[in-house]
Amino acid sequence: MNHPKTLFNDFEMQFEDAPAYIIRAPGRVNLLGEHTDYNDGFVLPMAIDRVVWIAFHPREDQQVNIYAINFDERLSFSLDHLEKDAGWMEYIKGVANALITENFPLKGWDGVMVGDVPVGAGLSSSAAVEIAATRAFSLASGWEWDPRRMAQVGQRAEIEWVGVNSGIMDQMVSAAAIAGHALFLDTRSLEYEHVPLPKDVAVVVMDTSTRRGLVSSAYNTRREECEQAAEILGVKALRDADLEALIEKKNEMSEFVFRRAKHVISENQRVLDAIAAFQKDDIKTVGRLFNESHHSLRDDFEVTNDALNWIVEIAQSQLGCFGARMTGAGFGGAAIALVDEKAVGEFKKAVEEGYKQKSGMDAVIYICEASAGVSVEKI
Ligand code: GLA
Repeated sequence: MNHPKTLFNDFEMQFEDAPAYIIRAPGRVNLLGEHTDYNDGFVLPMAIDRVVWIAFHPREDQQVNIYAINFDERLSFSLDHLEKDAGWMEYIKGVANALITENFPLKGWDGVMVGDVPVGAGLSSSAAVEIAATRAFSLASGWEWDPRRMAQVGQRAEIEWVGVNSGIMDQMVSAAAIAGHALFLDTRSLEYEHVPLPKDVAVVVMDTSTRRGLVSSAYNTRREECEQAAEILGVKALRDADLEALIEKKNEMSEFVFRRAKHVISENQRVLDAIAAFQKDDIKTVGRLFNESHHSLRDDFEVTNDALNWIVEIAQSQLGCFGARMTGAGFGGAAIALVDEKAVGEFKKAVEEGYKQKSGMDAVIYICEASAGVSVEKI
């Protein structure tokens, strides 16, 4: 593993010792299947080469001490006494709390953490921290680590500790992805397949540099609206509904609830259509599905902002771009585009310039490699 050298130096400085293990857990972009995971639906995320590293050594007691290089801050807590606070440590405390609730015996550890997943961009820096933390706890405490079980623990940390009623997509892909592949996941059964990505197409992330506060409350509201729709339709989750049934019951629900459900039902189908298109190497169709997904998220699910709409429109109009859409929860953050590898240089330049002209802001644009899920190196 090609970990940053500063991890060792900082570990030595903080704990006057060497780490016993180094963990690497990736962030993700979601290719397709947005806001479908908490509706028991299908998703197609890909782990990216932007990651969180934790170097650590186990302790014999219940103390967890972590120095976060990005924040130049060292914080501690005791597993005997977890208290809610604010900040980066909450994701690790949330994981500890979920593990304790699920009766995993825990020991503490000393760690140094560093990452290059941009925070608030919709690239799941928090899931990367959570999955890395589950791995550290399993190694420090001596029980076996299972990707599905630990993704559920990460999700539980989000819901019960952080207060976001999130789905399981981000944690699953950070836990279970393999390099060069996207993860086609059924969020109901947690069955997944690794989908090879075409070699001559680049996945380009376009971070609008916009961040919105209160994303968690807007997110939770969307989830409630979806649950209302499922109830009116008489199904367990929107995954079990189709557009025909929705239209039949249109008069029984508010316009909002109708449109939220329309997005989820159509988005679920787009994931299945994209899988079929990938199998035929039909990237044009995948690109068209990207565009349709964005329009549905903009008009029906209403989780885009101006910046996301602008950058996606600019991207969609470039030669060599198969399709573009916002990615992640939305309300700000990043979009993605599928771009012919030969056109990537020009694409990047044109989107940077076009976006600056339109918004006055700078976009951060980079090509992502499909990376492997969490891994451990023993020192
Ligand atoms: C966030 C959540 C995921 C998923 C996406 C939207 O990333 O953590 O579970 O719901 O938003 O697709």
